[in-house]
Amino acid sequence: MCGIVGYIGNKEAYPILINGLKRLEYRGYDSAGIAIYNGETAIYKCKGKVSDLEHYTSKKSLVGFVGMGHTRWATHGEPNDINAHPHQSMYGKFILIHNGIIENYSQLKKILEEKGYRFKGETDSEVLVNFIEYIYLQGKTTAEIAVRAALSKVIGAYGLVIMCSDEPEQLIAARKGSPLVIGVGDGEYFIASDATPIVEHTKSVIFLNDDDVAIIRKDELTLKTVKNDKIIQPTIHQLDLDVDEIEKNGFDHFMLKEIFEQPRAIHDTFRGRISLEKKEIHLGGLYNVLPRLVEAKRIIIVGCGTSWHAGLVGEYLFEELARIPVEVEYGSEFRYRNPVIYEDDIVIAISQSGETADTLAAIQLAKQKGALVLGICNVVGSSIPRETHAGVYTHAGPEIGVASTKAFTSQVTVLAMMAILLGKKRNVLSNERYEQLLTALANIPDKIEKILQNSEKVKHIASIYQNATNCLYLGRGYLYPVALEGALKLKEISYIHAEGYPAAEMKHGPIALIDENMPVVFIATQDKTYEKIISNIQEVRARKGTIIAVVSEGDTKIKEMAHHTFEIPHTEEELIPLLAVIPLQLLSYYIAVMRGCNVDQPRNLAKSVTVE
Ligand code: AGP
Ligand code: GLU
Repeated sequence: MCGIVGYIGNKEAYPILINGLKRLEYRGYDSAGIAIYNGETAIYKCKGKVSDLEHYTSKKSLVGFVGMGHTRWATHGEPNDINAHPHQSMYGKFILIHNGIIENYSQLKKILEEKGYRFKGETDSEVLVNFIEYIYLQGKTTAEIAVRAALSKVIGAYGLVIMCSDEPEQLIAARKGSPLVIGVGDGEYFIASDATPIVEHTKSVIFLNDDDVAIIRKDELTLKTVKNDKIIQPTIHQLDLDVDEIEKNGFDHFMLKEIFEQPRAIHDTFRGRISLEKKEIHLGGLYNVLPRLVEAKRIIIVGCGTSWHAGLVGEYLFEELARIPVEVEYGSEFRYRNPVIYEDDIVIAISQSGETADTLAAIQLAKQKGALVLGICNVVGSSIPRETHAGVYTHAGPEIGVASTKAFTSQVTVLAMMAILLGKKRNVLSNERYEQLLTALANIPDKIEKILQNSEKVKHIASIYQNATNCLYLGRGYLYPVALEGALKLKEISYIHAEGYPAAEMKHGPIALIDENMPVVFIATQDKTYEKIISNIQEVRARKGTIIAVVSEGDTKIKEMAHHTFEIPHTEEELIPLLAVIPLQLLSYYIAVMRGCNVDQPRNLAKSVTVE
């Protein structure tokens, strides 16, 4: 998920690696490290910024022509010096940097512990480097064979660079699900998780494909796959992008990149946690508290902004699927209104950053009152996961755009997994329903992909409404929180005044606003309230309001009434928010761009609000 750089050639590696890590800083990270070979391999790593690493290494003599550097965005284990990469295996044979998640690390760890391996930190990556060493020593084989054999047993995602002390003039790079690019120089190679650290050195690059393993010496690169020993001819591409474009992966803004990353982000959220084969949901972080959760009399969800909206979807999910009563509270209100909290209440705090002051204060209050407090957070090792009794990380990867997008859908994914799991354990869900929901969740990433392929249609709608001054968002049931989120997205990045309402509430006030200048966005898929929302659409039409509707694929009724419709694929009603929010994110993005707004850093807003 975070940053990788590697170098092998005739130049000093240190400046290339440090500058490369600085180029990768835009991705967000929590610790950094470096390894350089010069007769033996020196490893330096620490929590904090690349500048902290630079400071730490400033008095050391770091010479050498082979090395690698890493910026970690923790997924397994707190961000601290020990968990920072590179990781060295127990007998010192292998050093590795890793981006991604090894899903079966706990099984591999168990095997290694039985063989006498001990671990310094908590990362999945440290397990992998030891697993490679174990195979290497067992098989008395080469580094390449050991790496390929180990990777054939690994489930998960990785971008890896590996050094072996017995074959020091070589780097091994491997990829699955986490990108790696190799820069081809004259008697030298550069490796990186994206091309930003490479472009200043060379424009000739090889993009590794999933399952590729590259064995790299300064004047030779051999490409194979994990399973196949046959040498593959690499294709060399010429880059013509500038650094800024590469940081954003070719997208104009981080927000757009993050919107388009959602299929992968959601997949990473449920990766290793749901198994269709075993019909299982396994949330490791909740394992110890599961009995208390199953017996819960009430759940209180706290959060702010977009995370609060995810909490509202959670309310519908827990009540419907697990029949547990839920209250959803703004952190800021909860903390000051002397709430009634019982010792058998479960409080769930939702936060992308894990640092939001109001949410943290709500957690502290709930803890004082004796409730079990859980966290759903994206940033590993941030304050909220440390303050809560247990929790689930969303694993969506760093979110850089101030407007939250992939954090929302990954939070809803976690809430859906929790609600389905509790529904099963509390015997609310039949086996058949449980399996239907699991399968539907697993299919969400493909459906989002399909929606994203139609983004031009949203862009067209955006071009028509870019000069609006007000906008109303209406939805019912699961789509009411989506209406709120759509309105928040529009107002925070385009500065158009927007309101979200439950559609039926419109007649109790907001209807007074409707005239031909008022676009109304209906989120109106074919669920329980479909017929009801059609009546609400009629009410807007009767008052000459303009109607933009997000509808189910194949809908004909609303198409006849609305000025513009955008279709989304069918899924189980409980999961529709994951699909319906996507066109709304795109709509606000395109409108904001057309109005010339600073999409990634909207005025007056901070990515993480650490003040009251
Ligand atoms: C979302 O687009 C906003 N920028 C904001 O509402 C955000 O969701 C809120 O500040 C909560 O942040 P958190 O998830 O990091 O706690
Ligand atoms: N899963 C690894 C860890 O937690 C790698 C994280 C990353 O991609 O930076 O250390």
